[in-house]
Amino acid sequence: MRASIIVVIGLVCLLVPAAALDNGLALTPTMGWLHWERFMCNTDCDADPQNCIREELFMQMADVMVKEGWKDAGYEFVCIDDCWPSQQRDAQGRLQADPKRFPSGIKKLADYVHSKGLKLGIYADVGTKTCAGYPGSLGYYDIDAKTFADWGVDLLKFDGCFMPDWHQLGEGYINMSSALNQTGRSIVYSCEWPLYEWQHQQPDYEAIRKTCNHWRNYGDVYDQWTSVKSILDWTAEKQKIVVPVAGPGGWNDPDMLIIGNFGLSRDQQQTQMALWAIMAAPLLMSNDLRDICPKAKELLQNKQIIAINQDPLGKQGYRILKADSFELWERPLSGNRLAVAVMNRQEIGGPRRFTISVAIMPSWKLCNPKCNVTQIMPTYKEMGVQNLLSEVVVQVNPTGTTLLTVNPL
Ligand SMILES: *[C@@H]1O[C@H](CO)[C@@H](O)[C@H](O)[C@H]1NC(C)=O
Ligand SMILES: *[C@@H]1O[C@H](CO)[C@@H](O)[C@H](O)[C@H]1NC(C)=O
Ligand SMILES: *[C@@H]1O[C@H](CO)[C@@H](O)[C@H](O)[C@H]1NC(C)=O
Repeated sequence: MRASIIVVIGLVCLLVPAAALDNGLALTPTMGWLHWERFMCNTDCDADPQNCIREELFMQMADVMVKEGWKDAGYEFVCIDDCWPSQQRDAQGRLQADPKRFPSGIKKLADYVHSKGLKLGIYADVGTKTCAGYPGSLGYYDIDAKTFADWGVDLLKFDGCFMPDWHQLGEGYINMSSALNQTGRSIVYSCEWPLYEWQHQQPDYEAIRKTCNHWRNYGDVYDQWTSVKSILDWTAEKQKIVVPVAGPGGWNDPDMLIIGNFGLSRDQQQTQMALWAIMAAPLLMSNDLRDICPKAKELLQNKQIIAINQDPLGKQGYRILKADSFELWERPLSGNRLAVAVMNRQEIGGPRRFTISVAIMPSWKLCNPKCNVTQIMPTYKEMGVQNLLSEVVVQVNPTGTTLLTVNPL
């Protein structure tokens, strides 16, 4: 297949994003681990002590993150999702951890995580209850922000279930943002505001960027290829709206990396990793780091892919072409470089060739007079010096992705 198709590019790469939340955090996308997709709301510690939501789970993940190179690769946050609290607030109206599953309390857990050089994330909800039915923060934003700060929490994932009046979603998220600011502690603020607002109207992304460090736009990721595809399709469809607002301090969050679990083939895992890098997505793994296959670990710790994700320019990539069951995505990088992902969406047959004619690709003008193309994935391969007359040919497996960087010479 030859890329001799009209290349349609929006203005997405020309706009400078509006001001971000002014807390100095998330200047590159957050990296870490989050329990939800893999461990969900498993609270049955009698029957399943290894996999239930309790303090040991997070301590063990922190241990492994240091021992097995995750921290060195950049994964820094150990994040608790729903189902950690007690059903009752304490006498002062504060949230408290479930006493059976977190007998030492969250402050001790934060101290432990910090002693490993890592950071702790926690979860709460803007409405009256969390999505799993635990106490919500509506009416308690100041108390809860102060409680999290007192405990030494470093990130808050703030869900959007059970908001009695959706018109107040924005107000709730904004109020919690100022409550966090008032604590004086640096706390990354991860929102689900647009996800819940899209059900009623197009969200105000400028306001969201001023309020949150990252924000979920679309439904939860599942351990299946269909889910990853639907997230990519949604993002490409809405890219004119969501891409321009991403930048240092504020990111679109397409949800967790499910690499290392059960539902994705090797090629599909590579696609998720490559496209999350192109999308400047937070890299929050939800898997069992205590027991993960070496190939998945190698992929998640791939330095070149992580460097694309963490590129300091902070521009989110976008899809520039969809044709003949291929998708071509690109992301402008610092140093006038470019990352390019070619995904094969055909789910039958074998590897297919895709040819990029440099001359017709507007973003490849950095190849005038010369550039250097490197294949990052599936294998590292220097593809040599190219110019405007070059045709760059890649081979892509069904549901897989080939990832390149293009560097001016
Ligand atoms: C709170 O907001 C002010 C003004 O936007 C900012 O300068 C300050 O760094 C913020 N503090 C925290 C802890 O986020
Ligand atoms: C947000 O704060 C304002 C000002 O204190 C208050 O009037 C409003 O009710 C709050 N909204 C929510 C949803 O907490
Ligand atoms: C091409 O780029 C790679 C890094 O991506 C570099 O190691 C190599 O030396 C470059 N080759 C040339 C000819 O510049």
